[in-house]
Amino acid sequence: MTRKKVLATAAAALTITLGLAACGSGGGIEGGDGGGDGGGDVDVSSADTVWRLAFNQTEEHPQYIAAVELGEALYEATDGRYGIEVYANELLGTQADVVNNVSEGSVEMMYIGGPVMESFNEDFIVFNLPYMFDSIEAQAGVFADTEVTGDLFSSIEESKGITVLAALFAGVRNVYNAERPIVEPEDLSGLKLRVQQSDSQVRMIEMMGGVASPMGQGEVYTALQSGVLDGAENNETVYNALNHDEVAEYYSYTRHLMIPDYLLMNTDILGEMSDEDREAFLGLIPDLVESANSGFMEFIDESIAASEEAGAQFNDDVNVEAFRERVAPLVEESINNPVRQDLYDAVQEYNEQFPAGS
Ligand code: GCU
Repeated sequence: MTRKKVLATAAAALTITLGLAACGSGGGIEGGDGGGDGGGDVDVSSADTVWRLAFNQTEEHPQYIAAVELGEALYEATDGRYGIEVYANELLGTQADVVNNVSEGSVEMMYIGGPVMESFNEDFIVFNLPYMFDSIEAQAGVFADTEVTGDLFSSIEESKGITVLAALFAGVRNVYNAERPIVEPEDLSGLKLRVQQSDSQVRMIEMMGGVASPMGQGEVYTALQSGVLDGAENNETVYNALNHDEVAEYYSYTRHLMIPDYLLMNTDILGEMSDEDREAFLGLIPDLVESANSGFMEFIDESIAASEEAGAQFNDDVNVEAFRERVAPLVEESINNPVRQDLYDAVQEYNEQFPAGS
């Protein structure tokens, strides 16, 4: 099967996938046992072919649980020909490193944060810009629209051997630090904050008023603890699950980013499957998205409660408009070619359809 054909099939699966991804609250993962083994009796490691899926967060994360479920469902759907083992906690390396392994095929699958994709195709930046999406529904609408995303998501199949199987809701990101609640951009002055490994993220934090330090997720706790960092920016689930709340007690709702995570797969490995097995596999992706996205909303609520319990202070008294003004030039300078302009315009259409609070 050619890469083009693989892509067409993957794109079809993506449409269904994201159509189902309503991102509503409620639902959640039933029966998740904390270990994320999905509770099934399937031994995926006994499959003829076992793929590795790299993940940089904990086993409690709904994306982990959804991936384990996917592996078990794949095993059953292919009569044990394929299984997926999920490696959590950045065991296979930082996202910026592992994506090269996925490109070479030595790791078959991974979850990756949007900004890290910019090193392969800078046009991915559009979905990583601050204050880009007005609502979760607007973001879900964009990702459900393969007319909008198709070319971007297939853009690195030929060049890098990477297929984007799905785009997932990954929370809303805010700043946190050990020193003080953040209300105005000036409050970030002098604070060294970790960002994801991408130039756009560095520039964003600098414009917001802080000092940016790009690094992989796994190093952040120690850097916060030792004072190498004053803080970071992330959603509430990372803040709690990785114990950042212990070492940076002030979490402030700047709401500066709603960026996706992507589920990636090596294109050739996907292409090597029989048509029947591939169809079965791609048909399971909608369940993964549904499970991960609905589980995420619940995970946020649980994370906030647990952080508060641990003594963290959540501050919603933030001058969001001031931060939005600060980063507006980044948005403007990044929309600098027709591809990005089209993506940007499409996002605005969905923003109009699904405004904030809709
Ligand atoms: C979120 C996101 C990850 C990302 C991480 C980070 O957890 O879901 O994909 O890697 O933030 O900030 O590194």
